[in-house]
Amino acid sequence: MTTESVQVPEAWREGTRPGLPPLLPDFEVVDTFAREIYGRTPSGGRLSDVTLLSRENGVLDGAADRLRHHARISCPLGDLELDTLLHVPSTTGPSPVIVVLSFTGIEETLGSAQSHRWPYAKVMDAGYAVLTVDYQQIEPDAPDARGVRALFPADEPWGAVGAWAWGLSRLLDIADGLDGLTAAGAIALGHSRLGKAALWAGAQDERFAVTISNDSGCCGASLFRHPGGEDIAAITTKFPHWFVPSFASYAGREVELPVDQHQLLASIAPRRVYVASAEDDAWADPIGEYVAVVAAGPAFEDGGIGYHVRPGGHDLLEEDWLRALSFVRR
Ligand code: GCU
Repeated sequence: MTTESVQVPEAWREGTRPGLPPLLPDFEVVDTFAREIYGRTPSGGRLSDVTLLSRENGVLDGAADRLRHHARISCPLGDLELDTLLHVPSTTGPSPVIVVLSFTGIEETLGSAQSHRWPYAKVMDAGYAVLTVDYQQIEPDAPDARGVRALFPADEPWGAVGAWAWGLSRLLDIADGLDGLTAAGAIALGHSRLGKAALWAGAQDERFAVTISNDSGCCGASLFRHPGGEDIAAITTKFPHWFVPSFASYAGREVELPVDQHQLLASIAPRRVYVASAEDDAWADPIGEYVAVVAAGPAFEDGGIGYHVRPGGHDLLEEDWLRALSFVRR
């Protein structure tokens, strides 16, 4: 772990962390996270067909093949349609896939103000395929949205973060049937709110060998009980649709939540987890993320959980991808 620039206050050093709930067996803890925070992911939602729309071989100076697909997922009350973008290394054999949701739409990953978040050539070079979809095709990011959650009977509430996590699993279903990809070694990666979704996907779907959260902050990798950054009052006021409605009742009562986020990280063990933070990203509380990683440590084999903090602010940079992937390769 790169820890040299994390200045952990004395009270939060290992062994003296105030009152974190203990690590519990994962079946129990995942259920508690569902009940209290993210909602229960309904079962069902079957990939019914995937149509190849376009294929360009040898893009990125010959490093990759670029494929666009249209996928249809049949849900109890209708179909969800997804437009995906896949880059596969053209020089290696079957590659493990990184599934990652895009904030700005799949074409914007190729050339826009956001394209620095998508260092495709370097990731191809490292031997990974990347499959992405616009996160708002799964569930629009608004309180009154009618995305995939409207395609399931409203028996129990689930939040938008849960819907995006569900979408990461559906991306993996899509990847499963495509040439040039291996089922083994699949990675869920997400930045910020989509980093929260990646962790929740990793906790629920054992097909993910590795989960990578970047600057995921409150309700992602950072601890509720570590003061600093966003808290439950702030997140549930601004983004009520991300979680189950009852989660807002913990505003100002963080210590009464029966779980904390180190347990979410630990629930993914023995599969691997990597948490990336940025020094100036105070809103995501990099120290709270670091302490969560340390507190989750006992659940993992040696080297099963990794962390870095880099200089700079809230963003997903090439450095974040490459440091996470070098952890994966180790
Ligand atoms: C807001 C929100 C965070 C979230 C971030 C993002 O800042 O408060 O919880 O992670 O948006 O997704 O960019």
